[in-house]
Amino acid sequence: MPDTENATDKVRVNLGRRSYDILVGDGLLPQAGELLLPLLKRKRLAIVTDENVAGFHLASLAAVLDANGIEHASLILNPGESSKSYAGLQQVCEFLLASGIERNDVVIALGGGVIGDLAGFAAGVLRRGVRFVQIPTTLLAQVDSSVGGKTGINSPHGKNLIGVFHQPSLVLADLDLLKTLPKRERAAGYAEVAKYGLLGDAAFFDWLDQRVEEVIACDTDAVRKAVRRSCEMKADIVAQDETETGVRALLNLGHTFGHALEAATGYSNRLLHGESVSIGMVQAFRFSGALGLCDPHLGDHAERHLKRAGLPTRVSGIPGEVPPPARLLEIMHQDKKASGGKLVFILARAIGETFVARDIAEKDVLDFLEKDRRAS
Ligand code: NAD
Ligand code: GLY
Repeated sequence: MPDTENATDKVRVNLGRRSYDILVGDGLLPQAGELLLPLLKRKRLAIVTDENVAGFHLASLAAVLDANGIEHASLILNPGESSKSYAGLQQVCEFLLASGIERNDVVIALGGGVIGDLAGFAAGVLRRGVRFVQIPTTLLAQVDSSVGGKTGINSPHGKNLIGVFHQPSLVLADLDLLKTLPKRERAAGYAEVAKYGLLGDAAFFDWLDQRVEEVIACDTDAVRKAVRRSCEMKADIVAQDETETGVRALLNLGHTFGHALEAATGYSNRLLHGESVSIGMVQAFRFSGALGLCDPHLGDHAERHLKRAGLPTRVSGIPGEVPPPARLLEIMHQDKKASGGKLVFILARAIGETFVARDIAEKDVLDFLEKDRRAS
C-alpha cells in the first residue's frame, strides 16, 4: 500500500463466502453512498447509532445517502455500555422490524464498539440474519470491535455473555470521524492498538514507541498506519481462527485481568474498556515476569509506553475502591474465556511473543494480584 496522505488502504478479511474488506482512510463517510450501493438489493437501509455520534456525524451520512437515492431510517440510542443490554437489543430489533428491514437489506452500525456489538448482534438474529456494515467512529472500534464478527450484549452475569459471531459485509474506518472523539476515548482505543504490537509484532510496537503521541492526536498519517496495521493483524488472526478455538485468544491479551476490573467497577465511567485492557496488559507482562517466563522489566516497559498515551496502568489509578484480589479472582471465573473451571491467561515470553496459558495455578494468580496491589 502507498504510504501517502489521503490514501485509502484496503485490508481483506479472508473468510470464504463471508470475506469482506476493511477500508481505512480519510473522507470515507462522504463516499459511503457509492461504497454501499453495490451491497444493496434495494435502495433502502437502517442506521443504528448513539446520541453523541448522531450529533456529530449522522447528518453527513444521511446527506450522502439522500444524494445517492438511498432511503434510510435511523435509531439513536443512549450512549454508553448500558445500551448493550436485553432492553437495547429489543429496541434495535423492534426498530428494524418497524422500519421494514427485510432479509436482503443492510443495517448500518454507526458508532463505537457499543453500537457495533449491539447492532451487529441484532442484525445477526433478526430474521435469522441480515447483513450489516460497520462504520466505526472510535479508535477502539476501528482497530478492534468492528472487525472479526464478535457481536453481543452484556448480562447481569457478565460482559458480552450473550452474542453470536456475525461478520459484517464491509467496514468503513473513516479516520476523520476520530477528530470529534474525546481525548480519553482516543487513549482508551490506543490501548488496543498497543495490544497488537505487544501480542505479536515487536517491530510495530517499536514504531508505536516512536509515535505514541502522534497516533493519539489522530490528525496525521501515523493514525492511518496504526489503524491499518492493527486491522491487518486482526484480519490475519480472525482468518486463521474465526470462532476463537486457538490463536484468536491472543487478542485477549490483558483481558482476563482487565475484564475483572471492569466488572468490579460496574462497567462504569470509572474505567473504560480500553483503560482496563491497559492495566490488564501491564499485569499480564508483570505476571509473566513473576512466573519466570519473560524478562521481569518488560512490565515496566509496557507501562511507560501506555502512560505516555495517558492511560492508567495500575489498579491504584482507578478512582474509588476496587474489591480485593480474592474477589477479582472470583469474578475471573465468570469470564467467557474460563474453561472447565480453569482460567485462561495470555502470557508473554517477550514483547511481540505471547501465548495462551490454560494451566495457571489459582494460588499463583492470587499471590501475584496481592503483590501487584501492594506495589501499586
Ligand atoms: P463506545 O461505543 O461506548 O464509545 C465511546 C464513547 O464515545 C461513547 O460515549 C460514544 O457516544 C462516543 N463516541 C463514539 N464515536 C464518537 C465520535 N466520533 N466523536 C465523539 N464521540 C464519539 O465505546 P468503545 O470504546 O468504542 O467500545 C467499547 C465496547 O466495545 C465495549 O462494549 C467492548 O466490550 C466492545 N468491544 C468489542 C470487541 C469485539 O470484538 N466485538 C472488541 C473490543 C471491544
Ligand atoms: N477483541 C477480541 C476479539 O475480537 O477476538
